[in-house]
Amino acid sequence: MKTSSYINGKWKSAKKTFPVHNPFNNTLIAEVEDMSRADCVEAIDAAYDAFKVWSKFTASKRSRILKKWYQLQIEHSKELGKLLTMEQGKPLAEAIGEVRYGASFVEWFAEEAKRIYGDVIPGHGSDKRITVIKQPIGVVGAITPWNFPSAMITRKVAPALAAGCTVVIKPSEWTPLSALALAELADQAGFPPGVLNVICSKDPQVIGEELTSNPKVRKISFTGSTRVGKKLLEKSANQVKKVSLELGGNAPFIVFEDADIDAAVDGCMASKFRNAGQTCICTNRIFVHESIHDDFVTKLSIKINTLKLGDGLEEGTQVGPMINEAAIVKDEAILADAKAKGASIPIGGGRMQGQFFQPTLVCEVDKSMDIFSQEIFGPIAAVYKFKTENEVLALANDTEYGLAAYFYGRDYALIWRVAEALEYGMIGINTGMISTAVAPFGGVKESGFGREGSKYGIEDYLNIKYMCWGGV
Ligand code: SIN
Repeated sequence: MKTSSYINGKWKSAKKTFPVHNPFNNTLIAEVEDMSRADCVEAIDAAYDAFKVWSKFTASKRSRILKKWYQLQIEHSKELGKLLTMEQGKPLAEAIGEVRYGASFVEWFAEEAKRIYGDVIPGHGSDKRITVIKQPIGVVGAITPWNFPSAMITRKVAPALAAGCTVVIKPSEWTPLSALALAELADQAGFPPGVLNVICSKDPQVIGEELTSNPKVRKISFTGSTRVGKKLLEKSANQVKKVSLELGGNAPFIVFEDADIDAAVDGCMASKFRNAGQTCICTNRIFVHESIHDDFVTKLSIKINTLKLGDGLEEGTQVGPMINEAAIVKDEAILADAKAKGASIPIGGGRMQGQFFQPTLVCEVDKSMDIFSQEIFGPIAAVYKFKTENEVLALANDTEYGLAAYFYGRDYALIWRVAEALEYGMIGINTGMISTAVAPFGGVKESGFGREGSKYGIEDYLNIKYMCWGGV
């Protein structure tokens, strides 16, 4: 376990520390060095100097080092998973799954590094020729969240490094240990000093200020709340930095009349209760056709009632604790508002001992309630009834968010119509699990822009340059 920050290939201590607790029982896991703004400047300078070297490496040389990093993550996935569960709370199987999911981005982009192709375009004059090349942007500031302490780092850093950029990572102050462990493995993998830097601080604002105002940083990639994303975008605008934002969501999960109800219930459980409901693409609003509503709710209730809560490190735990008290307070308020406006809560309904929130089912909900418009980010399943396709599409799109949407149905014409009409960046059709390194992850509207993963993911870290050759 590393507790100091990784700058220019060295572990650096600070004058102060901040505590990291296990959300399951609030025990202290580590005191992490609390770096200053000056330390952040040092990391940016190191990344800036390293860029001159790293960007000149051949793609296959960068690829080999990335592959080594990937292999080390796979070899250590159990230890990394355990550390992740300790600092974040999710069940160990999910945590190991996240580490492997995160590593798959490194493997994918190690391969994509070799496929950064340019173009030759027929010229606009008989003596002219036009060529296009793609070049790494430069230093990238990667600001990552607590809900996926490992995968959200690799999903940004792997394409950046593959493209030839260098990075300064600011992990969440709630979960910095996974980031530091990844840095230790990066060190072992042989990245030159300064290529990958991790700076931990209990004050994200100070580090965010430096990353967005330092002219040596040419790109900001952020995953987190829409509120913070907007601030970073505003600050980055001063220097017209390139920005990628993966922000909040309000995912609809629609079950049409002809859907396989059992499959829909399974998909809903997977999408709703993953990470105790604390993911941006978690199902937020479940719309069920009135003809199958009661059947669906009965089957969903049975599954919710069997969920096992507990210590993520304990075998069989399916739902871990919430990340902090504020997350619980927010969900309590959402439920209180729904109840006051007439919703029924047949299962769960509030906090449990420790930092747990009961898996909860809410029915008789409508769009006047906060639960319709706010991102729940907790284990609360809210079920709505609908009659027609047009009605449910209007409800599903009635949000400023546009990250993920899901629906279950069998009619192929309906599937095409609905998939095209949903104003979201990602659509799960007869599945509640859509995350993979091979597909472009990202949203529209206030859920952000830019794509992570897939052949598109590396483009966010490249500039296009065209050369016009005259006098040919
Ligand atoms: C997120 O919640 O932002 C990430 C979820 C995922 O990658 O599956």
